[in-house]
Amino acid sequence: MQTDTQSSTFSLTQIGQGDGVYISTYGCQMNENDSERMMTLLEMMNFRPVTSPDQASLIIINSCSIREKPVHKVHSEVGKYRKLKNLNPKLKIGVAGCVAQQEKENLKADIPLIDFVLGTDAIDRLPEVVARVRDGAPVVAARFEHQQPYHIETLVRNPGVSTFVNITKGCDNFCTFCIVPFTRGRERSRPLKHLLDDVNKLVERGVKEVTLLGQNVNSYESECGTNFAQLLARLSTDTGIERIRYTTSHPKDFTDELIDVMAEHSHKVMEYIHLPVQSGNSDVLARMNRGYTREDYLARAKRIFERLPQAVLSTDLIVGFPGETDEQFEDTLTLMREVPYENLFAFAYSPRPMTKAARFTDQVPDEVKSARLARVLDLHREISFALAKKYEGTTLKVLVERYDSETGRVQGRSTQNKSVYFRGSEQLIGATVDVRINEAFPLVLRGEMVL
Ligand code: SAH
Ligand code: SF4
Ligand code: F3S
Repeated sequence: MQTDTQSSTFSLTQIGQGDGVYISTYGCQMNENDSERMMTLLEMMNFRPVTSPDQASLIIINSCSIREKPVHKVHSEVGKYRKLKNLNPKLKIGVAGCVAQQEKENLKADIPLIDFVLGTDAIDRLPEVVARVRDGAPVVAARFEHQQPYHIETLVRNPGVSTFVNITKGCDNFCTFCIVPFTRGRERSRPLKHLLDDVNKLVERGVKEVTLLGQNVNSYESECGTNFAQLLARLSTDTGIERIRYTTSHPKDFTDELIDVMAEHSHKVMEYIHLPVQSGNSDVLARMNRGYTREDYLARAKRIFERLPQAVLSTDLIVGFPGETDEQFEDTLTLMREVPYENLFAFAYSPRPMTKAARFTDQVPDEVKSARLARVLDLHREISFALAKKYEGTTLKVLVERYDSETGRVQGRSTQNKSVYFRGSEQLIGATVDVRINEAFPLVLRGEMVL
């Protein structure tokens, strides 16, 4: 049995034998980034990415367990592959990501069709795991490596114009509704020097924009004490990257220093801030263990707009958290009228295993949650359509990402992260151009390039 693929590049490149691999990805950008990392490793092992599961000899489902629905999706997707497995005895099926980390051996026991379970800390063990599985041994690799430093290099096959760079992993906040601290483990930050080197290497490969990723990027702290604001400043001054974005922020860690650095480096650090509020009521926030009140949050938002008048804010909201009364829910609606969110993701509370809130006794009935969710979404629709209109007639700086030969249009993003479509050519990819907006909707703007 092969246990150390790193020691032999020859054996590593032999494992795939040119076979097809299909990865389906659920969940957040961490998972998207992990899927890209897995695909890069698999290509190094001589697997070939395919676009349909029936062309694959290896299928990996990169799962999410943030709410109940995505967990169900994993179970139903594995079930769909039963037929394929009967037709192709060589086919191996793995589950990676947060459900894998959460369920470990139980997942393999529940769904015998699965050949391997790969936890969120085990992505880089994929070559070894696949080699063992191909030798016929089922594998569960889902132990947290709490003591290991967080040393990884960004692995992307075709980074294009814009790409993700992980800066932290895990989360120590333990919001009472959230499973992430259990599925991603304790928080770790990558060394500053690695990040500077990584971004410079991406720049050499033609990347113009990076999005720094972490569950709570604001609590980044390098081994030498560099905080997140200082990291942004260093990336702005010490690398050739044109645009820097980041996600996700936590309101309790969003400092004045960070706002100042964003203002000082506004030519590089984009003015789009995803600042999840979760609820507009301070009692609910306390029971969520969020570490800020409604007033704290409003003060943060005010400060951001004072220093960064062009900033765009987006948020996440949970409705129907245990014990949330009608009055407390109304506070969320009034907060939405106070903070001009251009983008908003709202969720009905979903009890998650291991979390504190799942054990709270005053759970809100499903029909109440659905009704509240509908009200949030209706209000957001109204607000976001009105906010979008301010872009009509303005000129925005747009970094072009792709060209569609069928429509002759290009798509790019403005500094505030709006998707902008306009007539252009393939040569524009990677260029930053001025676009005058003539039609604006909450998620999409249309315009013409200013020559
Ligand atoms: N790290 C980020 C987001 C993590 S998950 C943060 O701190 O905000 C993304 C979003 O999913 C959360 O912001 C929250 O709104 C939602 N979410 C997390 N757990 C949930 C649950 N149990 N039920 C419903 N929504 C949840
Ligand atoms: Fe979950 Fe809270 Fe951590 Fe975000 S900050 S990942 S919501 S525990
Ligand atoms: Fe889902 Fe895990 Fe991300 S639970 S939202 S894939 S961190």
